[in-house]
Amino acid sequence: MSTTNPPSADTQNLQQALLEALIRSDHRISPVWFYDHRGSALFEDITQLPSYYPTRTEISILDDNLEAIAKAIGSNRLVVELGSGSSRKTVPLLKALDQPAGYVPVDISADYLHQAADDLSQQLPGLPVIPLVADFTTPFALPPSLPDHNNRLGFFPGSTIGNLAAPEAQSLLKHCHTVLGDDAAFLIGVDLDKSPEVLIPAYDDPEGVTAEFNRNLLVRINRELGLDIDVQAFAHEARYLTNPARIEMHLVATTDQTINVDGQNHTLAAGESFHTETSHKYTIEGFAQLAQQAGWQLTQHWCDAQNRFAVLLLKAAENQ
Ligand code: AVI
Repeated sequence: MSTTNPPSADTQNLQQALLEALIRSDHRISPVWFYDHRGSALFEDITQLPSYYPTRTEISILDDNLEAIAKAIGSNRLVVELGSGSSRKTVPLLKALDQPAGYVPVDISADYLHQAADDLSQQLPGLPVIPLVADFTTPFALPPSLPDHNNRLGFFPGSTIGNLAAPEAQSLLKHCHTVLGDDAAFLIGVDLDKSPEVLIPAYDDPEGVTAEFNRNLLVRINRELGLDIDVQAFAHEARYLTNPARIEMHLVATTDQTINVDGQNHTLAAGESFHTETSHKYTIEGFAQLAQQAGWQLTQHWCDAQNRFAVLLLKAAENQ
């Protein structure tokens, strides 16, 4: 770390996250730290891998059912997309919708967001685009000035909700209900539970891209915190676990490791691991129940032929 410049809030948060992970017995660190520039590029590469089925499966579900989805959503909605990233899934949806009132992409990365918003405006001239820089995993408010609209649609593709534990997923859904209103609908992509023979290669691909994505967290930590963790001494591991069904990603120390943060030594014995991500895998019923407890009712859903992934349409339940 530079000694001439004060550490940025992000650097401090990353140091705090690392310290907490070293102290906790499960050594868990939030997956938000994956997504530096290199991590975001590696995630894009993951979405193209033959073994990582979620992205292309969700895209094909949306493509195959666009007309029915648009009909079920109705007209003149303001579309609020969480973690908008690239607009690969959004443009076809917005094109299919009946007179969408506007589009509010919400993303924590201002650069990425404004670039994506500009791209989208070019593809859909005339549609009001109001980007919102916000961390949607914590309570956020919509921009004060919005185009007139009948009601709102939340759009949260990619099964990103699966990276949240159930209580966090519920508070996110509850907060979205408050922000989107009582007439809102929510279109959400959810990865379904399935055989570990399909799940494990999706998170431990033969090309080694997910391993690099996972290890890049340590590369980032070294660079941003000025540390010298031996990245190659950590093995990438994807574990399938049940109750609840999930994939956990770990970085397993292959030999004893000493990590010095702020003058203090912390140890990770051989075989111990940083737990870097959980990706929950749902059943339709299980997700519907979780959503219901957060004020949303499942109205319709669409799956691929192999039932690997689902796109669910929820509506705000009454009396919330
Ligand atoms: C972003 N998220 C939904 C991905 C997932 O499948 O949980 C992140 C990912 N991690 C490893 N591969 C992809």
